[in-house]
Formats: sequence, C-alpha cells, structure tokens
Amino acid sequence: MVIGFIKKSELFRWILLVCLLLSSSCLCNAYTPADNYLIDCGSSSDTTVGNRVFISDSKSSKYLSTSQTILAYTLKSITDSDDSTLYQTARILPGTSKFTFPISTSGRHWIRLYFYPFVYQTYNMTSADFTVSTQNHVLLSGFGVTTNVLKEFSVNVTSATLEIVFSSSKNSFAFVNALEIVSVPDSLITDDANTIDPAGGFQGLSFQALETVARLNMGGPAVSFENDTLGRTWVNDQNFLVESNLATNVSNIAAVNYVAGGATEDSAPSSVYGTCTRMNSENDTTSNFNVTWEFSVDPGFQYLLRLHFCDIVSKSLNLLYFNVYIDSLVAKRNVDLSSDFPTLGAATYNDFVTSSNVGSKLRVSIGPSSLENVNPNAILNGLEIMKMNKSDGSLGGLGSVPNSSSNSKIGVIVGITVGLLIAILFAGGVFMFCRRKRRLARLALSKTWIPLSTTGGTTYSMGSKYSNGTTTTIDSNMVKGSFGYLDPEYFRRQQLTEKSDVYSFGVVLFEVLCARPVIDPTLPREMVNLAEWAMKWQKKGQLDQIIDSTLVGKIRPDSLRKFAETAEKCLADFGVDRPSMGDILWNLEYALQLQEAVQQCDPDENSTNLIELSPQVDNFSQPDNSVSNHFEESIVDDLSGVSMSRVFSQLVKSEGR
Ligand SMILES: *[C@@H]1O[C@H](CO)[C@@H](O)[C@H](O)[C@H]1NC(C)=O
Ligand SMILES: *[C@@H]1O[C@H](CO)[C@@H](O)[C@H](O)[C@H]1NC(C)=O
Ligand SMILES: *[C@@H]1O[C@H](CO)[C@@H](O)[C@H](O)[C@H]1NC(C)=O
Ligand SMILES: *[C@@H]1O[C@H](CO)[C@@H](O)[C@H](O)[C@H]1NC(C)=O
Repeated sequence: MVIGFIKKSELFRWILLVCLLLSSSCLCNAYTPADNYLIDCGSSSDTTVGNRVFISDSKSSKYLSTSQTILAYTLKSITDSDDSTLYQTARILPGTSKFTFPISTSGRHWIRLYFYPFVYQTYNMTSADFTVSTQNHVLLSGFGVTTNVLKEFSVNVTSATLEIVFSSSKNSFAFVNALEIVSVPDSLITDDANTIDPAGGFQGLSFQALETVARLNMGGPAVSFENDTLGRTWVNDQNFLVESNLATNVSNIAAVNYVAGGATEDSAPSSVYGTCTRMNSENDTTSNFNVTWEFSVDPGFQYLLRLHFCDIVSKSLNLLYFNVYIDSLVAKRNVDLSSDFPTLGAATYNDFVTSSNVGSKLRVSIGPSSLENVNPNAILNGLEIMKMNKSDGSLGGLGSVPNSSSNSKIGVIVGITVGLLIAILFAGGVFMFCRRKRRLARLALSKTWIPLSTTGGTTYSMGSKYSNGTTTTIDSNMVKGSFGYLDPEYFRRQQLTEKSDVYSFGVVLFEVLCARPVIDPTLPREMVNLAEWAMKWQKKGQLDQIIDSTLVGKIRPDSLRKFAETAEKCLADFGVDRPSMGDILWNLEYALQLQEAVQQCDPDENSTNLIELSPQVDNFSQPDNSVSNHFEESIVDDLSGVSMSRVFSQLVKSEGR
C-alpha cells in the first residue's frame, strides 16, 4: 500500500546534476555587444576613449564607399572629456558616400555620430549642408552644425547590413568626425508604451527610429558615457527647470534597488536612480505647485518619453503620491511607486508616447496628488526624450527615405540571431523545459529538459513540448524583458557568475512548484514571466495560490514556505545576496524533512504527502525499481542526437494505490 516516499539520495543526485550542468555551462565571459563598430574618422591612428577603441580611418575604409579621400584634422581641442580627440579629425564626404556595416544580430542599434566643424584647407565645415539616412530612415536632413554635437539615434536593424548614407548637394559636402554602430539590448525598448491623449496603449515602438533629444539625471551630476553600461551620457536637469526655486535635489544612491521586473542597470545606472529632483515642499504641508521642465523640440513629430522613478526620499512604503503631466496633460495620476514594487527604492520607469500635435516646446511636470491626508511631494529621477520618426520613416524635417537596394537575407539573419540567442541561453544554463504528462497529470508533474536540434548544424531552437503535441519556440518570448532563467544581473554586468547559476536554479525551483513554463507568452502580461509572477505572490505571502493544483492541500505549508523561501533567495537581485549551492541543498533538505515529518506522524496521509524526486539519467544511474514504477518513459526519443536530452530531471508526486 505504501508506495510513495521521498528519496533523499535521489533528491541530492538530482540537485547535484543540475549544479553540475549549470556550472559546466557557465562561460563567465565579459559581455561584448554583438555589433560594435567604433570609428575615429579622419584619424591616422586608433583612439582609445575610456575602455573603448575607435579604429583609425584607414582600418575602417573597407566599410566606406566615397568618391574622394579627404582626411581633415585640427589641433584645437574642444572638450576636456575623454572623447575630445575624436572631434579633432574628420572625414570630408563630398557628393554621396556610403558606409556599409555587416550586422550580425538584428535588433536595435545605436547610431552615434560625432560632429565638430572646423576649417581644413578649402573646407569650412560650418557651411556643410547634408543629409544622413539609413535604408529605412532619414536621420538628419538639411543638417549643419556650428559647434560640437553628438547625435544619437537608435534603429532596429533587421537586414544583413546597415547602410549609412551621407549626401550633400553639388555645392556643399558632408563630414563626420567619428561614428559608433553598437548593438542595444533588446530589453531596453519594448514594443509598447502608454499614450497620453487619449490615455491608452501605444504599440509599434519596434519599428520606430528614435533620436535622443534629452537625457537627464534629475537632481544629480552629469553621468558620463564611461559610467553607463550602454555608453549613454546623462546631463543635469537644472537648465531645463522652469522655476528652479520650486525644486530641490536629493541624493541617496545607496537606497536604489533593482528588483525583478523593474528597471535594470541598463535602463539607467544607480547614479541616475539614486538622485532626484523633488518638490520643494518640505516645510509646507499645504504646498500646491508643479515642478516643470521645458524642452525645445521639433514640432510635428511624436516623442517617446521615458520617466525614471525610484523612491529614495520616503522613510517607508505608501507615503509618496504624486501626479505626472506631459505637455499639460495628465500622464499619471496619484502615482504610488510602492504599488508596483513593494520595495522601497525600487527602480522603475514609464514610457509615454505623445500625440503628434506637440508644439515647439515640450513640458514635463510633477505635482502633488489630489488625495487627502497625503503630504504634497513629487519626484522625478531621470528623463529621456526621444523623437520618433514620421510616417514616411523620417526623423529629419525634409528629405525622404532613399530607395532601399538591400537584399536583406532575413533567413540568414534570423538563423544567426537564433543561434546567438541560443548560445547566450546555453551559457546561462538555460536548457530546461517542462513537459506536463497527461497520464500523470492528476498526481504527477514531470520536468523535462528539451533542447530541440533543428536545421543544419549551427542553428538550434529550443522548445517546451507538451504532451498535447504543441511546441512553442522560445525566440518568440525574447525585448519582453527577460530570458526566463537568465540572471537579470547579467544584463547589468554582462557577466555570468556562479550566482547566475543560483538564479537559474531558483527559477527551476519555482517551475517545479508551479508546474508551468518559465516564459508563457500566451498568458496575460504580468504572468508571462514565471520568475516575476511567482515572486509577486511570494512577496505577498500567497504563493500557495499559484502552485501546481496537484500539490494543493498535499504539500505541508511549512515545507512549502521553506521551499519557496529558498527559491526566493536564489532570485535575489544581486548575486551577492543569493545563497550558495551548499546552503540551497541544506535548505531543500530541511524542506524535505518538514514534508516527511507528516508522513511519519500521520499514516493516513502517507499515500498522498509525498514528493518523490528522481533523476532519470541513463548515463548516470538507473533508478531504483521501486521508483521506476512511478514515472513514465521520457521523450528522449524526440531528441535523438542531442546528448543533453539524456539529462533531465523529474519531480514526481506519488500516490499510493
Ligand atoms: C525589430 O523588428 C522586428 C520586426 O521587424 C521585431 O520582430 C523585433 O522585435 C524588433 N526588435 C526590437 C528590439 O524592437
Ligand atoms: C564615474 O563615477 C565615479 C563614481 O561616481 C566617479 O568618481 C568618476 O569620476 C566617474 N567617471 C566619469 C568619467 O565621470
Ligand atoms: C500642474 O500642471 C498641470 C498641467 O499643466 C495643471 O493642470 C495643474 O493644475 C498644475 N497643478 C498645480 C498645482 O499647479
Ligand atoms: C516610423 O517609420 C516606420 C517605418 O520604418 C513606420 O512604420 C512608423 O509608422 C513610423 N512612425 C510614425 C510615428 O509614423
């Protein structure tokens, strides 16, 4: 009668196996953007800026087709920052010239163009007048500069090459001092945002070319590109404040918390989230005014505004409520930052798209909420304003997109992209997928890792396969922000560590408990990512609401609590806060003992209280006979030729018969 039981040795084997797999797959390599072209135009030698090397003009000439080679230089140094030397040389580009860059991974890329006009021989660059465009977008038209300027764009490149065309009229010429083409993490800009007038949702950001109009660190010093993971520059907001006496600065960098589902260090560094401009209302609880910033913009375009928030001013949760206005319209009313993330100092941001009838000034305001019994206060930590292209694809006032002649080899690109994604996923120890087995569904949950090998050697796709025969590929799940198993710290540090493995393992623990895929794009948005979803419930102390229905009422609450706490610790935002694998084993064993306790005390419950963990790893060991009754043959057959497929684990909930 008694069949179910917990095999500790099996649990250990299973866990050790996971650890082994994860650690062997940890590449621990420093991150490099997939595409990273840095060119110091006109320069005869490479130029090092911070930790980046801009290659010389001659090394980059293979990317350029132009009618003449005119390399210009000036001895005048224009800024005292590290990138000053980039501005001292330039390429003069008469007529029409084209840079062509092979793109290894499609997705958003920075295009940064450095300009500083000086006089070289007969070329007076202040009189240059030209247009810069890509295959799909006009970036600049009728453009000329009188001072040093860094123009930053980001475009989603889905073709095999990115072409940047400089063209000028017969009597003029184009020039450029330096340029960067650098991959941007997909998660940085998602497809959707909020609209303001009328309030609603905007979709289609993926297709927008964006030009950075402003990037501000509220209440704090400028943050240089060297102190930003994505090479961005943030400037202080003081010059944009309409009435600076109404505002005051706060700095509390230690208070910043990057929480799961919120902003990451790639969204903005802690030097941005850790400072803010707040209402100067401290001594007056009846204050009623707005703090307003004003920006000059080109009318007739839509703008994407990203407002960064992090409550570094409150002593506890639910004290700060405020309103946010964009262009005199309410963007958000009664904002309570602690309602999204019940963690003080959680870094987060909101994206808004304006309507197209923005005038030549764009205003952003924060002010007190209308709620009663709330002290008037309002904060803003950072602000980015990005110009969106018009319906013809243009960001410039005039020109239109030139006819595209690129034969985009989309298949190849997709293949390479998927391959790279998989390499990344693999590096993160991410090859685990679950399969619900129908026959055991009532009582058993089995976890199966299924790397699916597909077409021609270099490309892999990974799927979670269900017994009903549906297969979902993971690449469709990849912007919306998370790689499921992959350590969010990886996105900040671009490094995988042992603690990244711990994170992945924590996700596996939740997966086991909740019996659902780690990423399920068919679910409502807040449920798509298991790690976020589970943590939300765990934080509320109500994880039991979302556990596998077959476990409900059978798993002991204290065992569940221990198990969940262990998983939660694994998902700590910072690697240093995560437990060691040793600690995890210890905790899981403790959870197991708590579960076992009931088995010994209450014989009636015997048959239903049991979690049985057993590895089914042909190469390692054969399961005990007593155990093998309880699980099905795996679907290894589906995966012939993939050695990883022989390695997976099962968590089987047994029941007496
Ligand atoms: C780029 O565009 C493609 C469609 O052309 C889309 O599938 C992809 O998600 C976009 N990437 C980003 C980062 O927006
Ligand atoms: C980067 O940040 C550190 C610490 O805030 C600061 O000391 C350093 O000057 C910054 N570097 C640059 C180039 O701004
Ligand atoms: C703040 O600005 C908004 C938009 O311009 C306006 O409607 C609101 O009345 C202002 N609030 C205060 C207190 O001035
Ligand atoms: C920007 O250009 C894309 C084509 O590249 C187009 O689909 C989109 O509608 C344009 N955006 C706006 C706001 O018109």
